[in-house]
Amino acid sequence: MPQHPQKPMLSSVGRRNDILCVGTVWRSANAYAACDARWMANIPVDLAEKFSLFSEHWSPKVVARLNDYEIKVVKVKGEFVWHTHEDTDELFMVIAGELTIQLRDGDVHLTPGQVFVVPMGVEHCPITDGEVHALLIEPTGVVNTGDAGGDMIASYDDSFA
Ligand code: NI
Repeated sequence: MPQHPQKPMLSSVGRRNDILCVGTVWRSANAYAACDARWMANIPVDLAEKFSLFSEHWSPKVVARLNDYEIKVVKVKGEFVWHTHEDTDELFMVIAGELTIQLRDGDVHLTPGQVFVVPMGVEHCPITDGEVHALLIEPTGVVNTGDAGGDMIASYDDSFA
């Protein structure tokens, strides 16, 4: 099971970009360099550009970080797998398309610009008719299929960060 990263020790942080970029076991050298460069140049994250870089479904990509949280872009289509995150809430924001988040006590329909937070421990299963572009915000290291495991586990990808 993935472990949550340790926060960087303040005493080990010597530079401002280190605070942003250091501190998780998940971070690749490439992502570190890209993050470092973007921070130094004050370049924003362009979500449309990030969405143009991949086509696979159900495979979230980290594009930014916020303290111990990650902002991920994901393309989804069809039905995912019912699962639960026992130790965290999970935020969905739809950028394009229409997403339904099935819950055991009813469905939540999201259109572009709408946000829904699935509370910790609540079983859910996203489903769509067509392709949906969405943003996820959740703690570093959350596994997309939660407790369900299975074939749809996405490999960790922070190459766009
Ligand atoms: Ni989930």
